[in-house]
Amino acid sequence: MGSVTNPDGHVCEEVKWHSIQKHVFLEAYLDIWSENVGKNGKPTPPLSIFDLYSSFGLCYCSETSKSWNGSALLVAECLQKYKSGKLLFLNTYNPNENEQTQQKETLEKNITDLNLPRRIEKFMTTLPIDEAVDSAISHVNPNYPNLWILDPYQPEHLPWDTVEKICKLQRFYTKNGKQVSRRPELFICLMTSRLQRLAGGLYAADDNIVGKALGMEKEEWESKLDHYKKYGITITDALIFMYAEKLTQYYEKKPQMIKVFSNDGAIVYTVFLCTDNNAGHYMMKVNQLPKYLQWQEVEWKKEAKTITRTKKVIRDAEKHGQEQAFLNQYYDDQIGT
Ligand SMILES: C[S@@+](CC[C@H](N)C(=O)[O-])C[C@H]1O[C@@H](n2cnc3c(N)ncnc32)[C@H](O)[C@@H]1O
Repeated sequence: MGSVTNPDGHVCEEVKWHSIQKHVFLEAYLDIWSENVGKNGKPTPPLSIFDLYSSFGLCYCSETSKSWNGSALLVAECLQKYKSGKLLFLNTYNPNENEQTQQKETLEKNITDLNLPRRIEKFMTTLPIDEAVDSAISHVNPNYPNLWILDPYQPEHLPWDTVEKICKLQRFYTKNGKQVSRRPELFICLMTSRLQRLAGGLYAADDNIVGKALGMEKEEWESKLDHYKKYGITITDALIFMYAEKLTQYYEKKPQMIKVFSNDGAIVYTVFLCTDNNAGHYMMKVNQLPKYLQWQEVEWKKEAKTITRTKKVIRDAEKHGQEQAFLNQYYDDQIGT
């Protein structure tokens, strides 16, 4: 949404209240690394994190007068807490030159203020995504785990080609005498509300934005959409399932997914989390997600209702709130392979 100065005088990314759901979910996932990996004398492999849409570092929501850490500060803090945090790669791009300068300077200051330990190598770029991904890949050590945060404003800003380049960074290592392969861990925000409008023909856009985001020709996603419609699946859910299918070409485990609702109950975007790490996947599913959903139900909704005052909107929000936020089971039931 752009920049805003919060009451403490910090320049922040201006956000709506619904955005905090994405950050709390990201934090729940990062906590697995910072609080659980290496517990009980287990090894702590060196970890690199790549945040390709870093923005300012801090977010501010004027509806609630609250500030909180954005993705860049969350990942930096994770590497600080996790004792083998090794590399932090932040890309903060803005097509507007003045905003770009402000974004970069603010992010640099926020990162400097954290006083990260010397063991963490830091890189900051200001590149559009197609260049940023190549620059980031040149810093990947294929022998160690790496984690990627992809959080664009619009689906146009995150073509499937970019995601695929990251998915292909497979590494192999030996564990208990067996060869194991691992892909990067991925946190992706898919902007489903705009995609749904485009796919439903509500916007006149004809350069296959949907297809570029999903990595499909127009005919392919249209025919899949028709197929899902026959089963009574909404356009949004169909788009989510198509994206999940694409990701499962690379990952053995299905992505974990949450829908992020706006204050009035509409779905704004969907967060996908891909990891083939058994322990990480299990911890997220069994511990962190239920905690997150509880927080969403109690904390987030309470505030959303305060902001959204009209009765109808509250009713709608409640109705949508009953919908499953956590789609894994739903995906298994409907599509299950
Ligand atoms: C949703 S914001 C990121 C918020 C951030 N991840 C956080 O949690 O605070 C999207 C960011 O992408 C940047 N952006 C816009 N177009 C881009 C492009 N083509 N490539 C890379 N970044 C872009 C915007 O300037 C903005 O900073």
